[in-house]
Amino acid sequence: MKALVLAGGAGTRLRPITHTSAKQLVPVANKPILFHVLESIAEVGIVEVGMVVGDTEDEVRAAVGDGSRFGLAVTYLRQSAPLGLAHAVVIARDYLGDEDFLMFLGDNVVFGGVGPAVERFREHRPDAQLLVTKVADPSAFGVAELDGDGRLLRLEEKPANPRSDLAMVGVYLFTPAVHTAVGAITPSERGELEITDAVQWLLVAGADVRVLEISGFWKDTGTVADILEVNRRMLEAVEPAVLGEVDAESRIVGRVRVEAGARVTGSTVVGPAIIGAGSVVSGSYVGPATSIAEHCTIRDSGIEGSIVLARSVFDGVRRVESSLVGRDVEVTAAPIVPLRHTLVIGDHGRVLLPPTTLGF
Ligand code: DAU
Repeated sequence: MKALVLAGGAGTRLRPITHTSAKQLVPVANKPILFHVLESIAEVGIVEVGMVVGDTEDEVRAAVGDGSRFGLAVTYLRQSAPLGLAHAVVIARDYLGDEDFLMFLGDNVVFGGVGPAVERFREHRPDAQLLVTKVADPSAFGVAELDGDGRLLRLEEKPANPRSDLAMVGVYLFTPAVHTAVGAITPSERGELEITDAVQWLLVAGADVRVLEISGFWKDTGTVADILEVNRRMLEAVEPAVLGEVDAESRIVGRVRVEAGARVTGSTVVGPAIIGAGSVVSGSYVGPATSIAEHCTIRDSGIEGSIVLARSVFDGVRRVESSLVGRDVEVTAAPIVPLRHTLVIGDHGRVLLPPTTLGF
């Protein structure tokens, strides 16, 4: 069995971070989401991985390489434009040959991995097997309607009036039967060849399509709020350790990982939290659910529930919450309570400032 990982697409909802970086490479608990995906694939004994890439190919290649670090052999498959998940299967046709495959969306996180799902597929070998899970907002996903016996009746992509609360998880198992389906469908209203339509096509053609409901935590990391939630949950599983330096004036509370070469002085860090290699935290409060990446400086500041990417600096600011901060960013205090704000923000940035009711 091979795997097909989808790491193309534009990531518009994660701008401005995705102006300069692939959305699948945004780190949660200081590790790119895509690495979590590749680890889940290696765990089920698959070695050969086709990686579908788009405009961010160079960056994905630089991060993942040949995959040997994960025990995988990665082949890059260039998709000319993000024309849909089923289009990715079309362009992977030669690579996949006549093998069964696990298709994994590169921005999906399945806690506890996909072992039981792959095992079930190997045991019964239906034409296609989907993973579904209950969600509060089904119209944001592919939605599966089942009958009373749990058999699949119908699939719809992002329906305005969903017929159930079962969302399709971005993990699919296919036999080569899917190749006929992706060749038979036409683009959806949003102009994409939808994998949901391909599986619906199989179903109507009388193929054996099975559904497995997962109960563990799953997230499509499409938005900043999703990423922050995945970060919080991932941090709860991080091995706590102090590999760097923590001075006597600092307090470390709960599940905290201080990486090698990091320094914490005169600060309180409340877990779950991670301080990346080479970062310096001084005179600060780092609260729960915070990931500070490598070579950051947090000085006289307070931050919690946030992700700060490499080499960024916080100096004299309290308190930052629920924020996703890019690489090489500087957040500093104004010398007095400012009457004017001076901003240097990239396209699609988002900033909250005091309202004008506090005066102009
Ligand atoms: O996350 C689960 C959902 O994923 C399912 O419930 C939906 O049925 C399915 O269509 C998909 O919906 P999204 O709209 O969230 O897919 P998105 O465009 O975010 O793409 C998912 C991943 O695949 C992402 O890592 C980018 C990559 N991709 C996407 C497209 C459209 C490609 O590599 N090539 C593409 O052409």
